[in-house]
Amino acid sequence: MSTPLGIENISTILVIGAGTMGRQIAMTAALAGYATTIQDISEDGLAGARAELEGWAAGRVAKGKLDEETAAAALGALTYNTDLEASAANADFVIEAATERLDIKTQIFERLGKIAPAHAILATNSSTLGSSKVAGATGRADRVCNMHFFNPALVMKCVEVVRHETTSDATVETTMELARRLGKEPVLINREIPGFVANRLMGAVRREALFLADAGVASIEDIDTTARTALGYPMGPFALMDLVGLDVVNFIDQATYAETGAAEDAPNQRIAALVAEGKLGRKSGAGFYDYK
Ligand code: CAA
Repeated sequence: MSTPLGIENISTILVIGAGTMGRQIAMTAALAGYATTIQDISEDGLAGARAELEGWAAGRVAKGKLDEETAAAALGALTYNTDLEASAANADFVIEAATERLDIKTQIFERLGKIAPAHAILATNSSTLGSSKVAGATGRADRVCNMHFFNPALVMKCVEVVRHETTSDATVETTMELARRLGKEPVLINREIPGFVANRLMGAVRREALFLADAGVASIEDIDTTARTALGYPMGPFALMDLVGLDVVNFIDQATYAETGAAEDAPNQRIAALVAEGKLGRKSGAGFYDYK
């Protein structure tokens, strides 16, 4: 059994997936001084990530929140690549943020187990799939865990580090410390449970908000306003679902329900209908609210 590198020796990070989460996780790592590769099978996905991150950095500089040298250094620390094998060959730490499908993730982790250096920790950003589901495919289950970031990943402080039965203490320690070095406040989840902690808390509020709206007790606008002005939430549950993506929320519900079978976890019909209409929230221009 190989041990993961101590935090001091980690210098290269590979983020798999250039989507909403992957691109911001990668920028977070680059800003913390890590040589970071974003790998995605889609050239367009990588180009979109590059354009967004360059625009974000320019915006931060213009706002006086980031100095030009730091922005340039972070953008310079990012590499974009479609080739997983080449990207993983020298990675000290891998964060997978690819599509939330077990077959895709299993295939990725199986390949990583063969290509990534033996010392590399293989983490998944999955919000629904516990890493035990892919750990076996890697041949290094002790160096596999969830490292779950929140949207927008450049802003939100929480990272849930979720261990499974064979995740080693050294893997947990290194992953927690890496999260701290990325400027985050990691929390440790001692065992796998659908939704971990944050999505379970969010789910409880979301279910109640949907019940109140469906029962005609108040409008979604007024429910969101109440969450903000009475409870101090940064945004109400409907605005938050639009931010996360209704397809993502629907997927989390389906995955949770498949695992628990509990009636209260059954996917919400209103959300499923919006997804079927192509209303996915902010990213598609409409969801519970209109963004056009
Ligand atoms: N990307 C990067 N930065 C962003 C951003 C984005 N998409 N949206 C906002 N920001 C930054 C802004 O640039 C701004 O930075 P500065 O203050 O340093 O200038 C800061 O965030 C605040 O933004 P705004 O002033 O525009 O708006 P706000 O004060 O309302 O904050 C918010 C926006 C950070 C999104 C805030 O509303 C919030 O915290 N909302 C809750 C988000 C949340 O709960 N996320 C978790 C979702 S669940 C999840 O991700 C897990 C899962 O598995 C699905």
